[in-house]
Amino acid sequence: MLNKEKLENLKKKAINNHVPILKDESMQVVKTILAIKKPNQILEIGTAVGYSALCFSDYLSGENALIKTVELDKSISEIAKKNIKEISDKNNIQVFNSDAYEFMTSLNECFDVVFIDAAKGQYMKYLEQAYRLTKKGSIIIADNVLLRGMVMGGYNQHKHRTAVTRLREYIKEVTENPKLETMILDIGDGLAISVIKE
Ligand SMILES: C[S@@+](CC[C@H](N)C(=O)[O-])C[C@H]1O[C@@H](n2cnc3c(N)ncnc32)[C@H](O)[C@@H]1O
Repeated sequence: MLNKEKLENLKKKAINNHVPILKDESMQVVKTILAIKKPNQILEIGTAVGYSALCFSDYLSGENALIKTVELDKSISEIAKKNIKEISDKNNIQVFNSDAYEFMTSLNECFDVVFIDAAKGQYMKYLEQAYRLTKKGSIIIADNVLLRGMVMGGYNQHKHRTAVTRLREYIKEVTENPKLETMILDIGDGLAISVIKE
């Protein structure tokens, strides 16, 4: 069981402290997908304070259902662990403190859903690993793929150039790869939802 009041307080606190948690409209879409998919194993790339992992955990299904979530920043991962312990009594979320790509390369299991929400410049590398860690019917979801309108616009400034270039590559790959069925939603900061067809 999740303590919904504490979860709502965590969300408010994260917003007040400018922690970039998943936006409400994107969360609603992801929750709907999870309600249909009923995942047993979820991999989350980018934990922050544990908000999205806690929300997703309500949709886990079956025996030994688990979310593995990875966060680079040690102190943030400790905060996430504390929040998860306070808000959920299910023991179904494991937080790992590591670079996400390195962590992904160390895994060898299969996930029903991979949620990508960490370093924007690394999305192609995360995708390469997500392919390895999923199977037919698995779903790969990536947040921030439109990066405040920069990805589809003519953005070419130095500051976000690498992230914008990589996100453009990500969108091209997931929309053109015939093994995927993908939709890009212009909600929140842009959400890419890809289903593995084969
Ligand atoms: C957008 S936030 C995640 C928000 C969270 N999924 C939510 O909605 O509640 C992105 C997180 O990814 C972490 N991050 C950035 N680069 C990373 C990396 N290379 N490996 C793992 N985590 C990383 C950041 O420290 C940050 O906490």
